Amino acid sequence: MVTAAQQTASSPDAALTFPKGFLWGSATASYQIEGAAAEDGRTPSIWDTYARTPGRVRNGDTGDTATDHYHRWREDVALMAELGLGAYRFSLAWPRIQPTGHGPAVQKGLDFYRRLVDDLLDKGIQPVATLYHWDLPQELEDAGGWPERATAERFAEYAALAADALGDRVKTWTTLNEPWCSAFLGYGSGVHAPGRTEPVAALRAAHHLNLGHGLAVQALRDRLPADARCSVTLNIHQVRPLTADDADTDAVRRIDALANRVFTGPMLQGAYPEDLLKDTAELTDWSFVRDGDLRQIHQPLDFLGVNYYTPTVVSTTDGSGTHTSDGHGRSAHSPWPGADKVAFHQPPGETTAMGWAVDPTGLYDLLRRLAADFPRLPLYITENGAAFDDYADPSGQVNDPARIAYVRGHLAAVHRAIVDGADVRGYFLWSLLDNFEWAHGYSKRFGAVYVDYPTGTRIPKASARWYAEVVRSGVLPG
Ligand code: NOJ
Repeated sequence: MVTAAQQTASSPDAALTFPKGFLWGSATASYQIEGAAAEDGRTPSIWDTYARTPGRVRNGDTGDTATDHYHRWREDVALMAELGLGAYRFSLAWPRIQPTGHGPAVQKGLDFYRRLVDDLLDKGIQPVATLYHWDLPQELEDAGGWPERATAERFAEYAALAADALGDRVKTWTTLNEPWCSAFLGYGSGVHAPGRTEPVAALRAAHHLNLGHGLAVQALRDRLPADARCSVTLNIHQVRPLTADDADTDAVRRIDALANRVFTGPMLQGAYPEDLLKDTAELTDWSFVRDGDLRQIHQPLDFLGVNYYTPTVVSTTDGSGTHTSDGHGRSAHSPWPGADKVAFHQPPGETTAMGWAVDPTGLYDLLRRLAADFPRLPLYITENGAAFDDYADPSGQVNDPARIAYVRGHLAAVHRAIVDGADVRGYFLWSLLDNFEWAHGYSKRFGAVYVDYPTGTRIPKASARWYAEVVRSGVLPG
């Protein structure tokens, strides 16, 4: 038998066989696909409010209809079955389940997810539920949002409602998706909802997201069967220095603290990094971290979800540093509190429609680092994928070779990381469907399946057929 290591060593272009049991999936998020914004008791989330505020989202797009998945979910599960997916990662809309962020659950909201999950299970597709993919009930933002401790407490109550209702059928749970975006884009640069630009509020939000995660994990564990799995999904930034200068290495350290260790520190190691506290000392003394919080946050996890798209390149400047080219959207306000002397640089080479550099070595390096830092923690790629300017040709086909090349390159990087010892157990392609790409609205298409928005028609792209073959065979063709 040829081992995976021998395969890679013998020829870089050889077909790559993934380990048996490797989980192949695809991912979506509630606000990005569901639509039905005012149906069955759902009330506005911060993204409804933000999208309705003129100038916030490209073309004035909103999630009111999105891909209409709330009505077309059966068709979408059928598409997943056609792709042969082993798992589907989706998020629960908090404002559908507990519209005001307080009180009992709305049964109609829960019923939607019960039906969805039952159909997935019927078709042999493992449901992976994310509790929070950015759609905070607006009422909770009106009361202060994530910068306030109460939001973390409300989040744990909502987690309990979700676990009570779905815990008999959903075995794999993720608390938060990319809390960095919620804290620093939502409250720092303001390019995400709720659009606030308050550096200290961003740091407070990061802490209360951490606390919400820890409290939610406890609420889930109290209610779920012993074989259930709990995790969090982080967009760990793979930060690289522009040059080998010490000053640029220090910029890497700062951004690594603000992007990554602000979450992995408390969640996985039980403490905030000392350098983060020092770098932000002029802004806050972190007195919002109360005695006992770190114990609540530091909960054992069954795996870590990793989202990766592109690396981040930084240098140290004289203080007039730009924060507009860090890949997270344009704003006069920085999402990096206390890092005024850091400049962000566009890596050379090919980019996707988001303007993000295509660089699978970033994913390899990231997985190797996580494996070294957290050796006992299994990893799942909970998101990876690319936006390109896809269109249906006159014969109704959507040909997307650039997406195939992107995914192929990144899967090869995952394979190499596994060969080199990283415990990566699965891969979720972002995304199943074209969808509402936050501040970019519908202008960016990440789907393996094309959505014709005026009609809602779904057309599997060439990449969907290509991915289905990888999923079926467990082999990445050479
Ligand atoms: C990460 C987010 O979780 C997802 O919602 C978003 O669409 C993708 N990145 C692409 O930007």
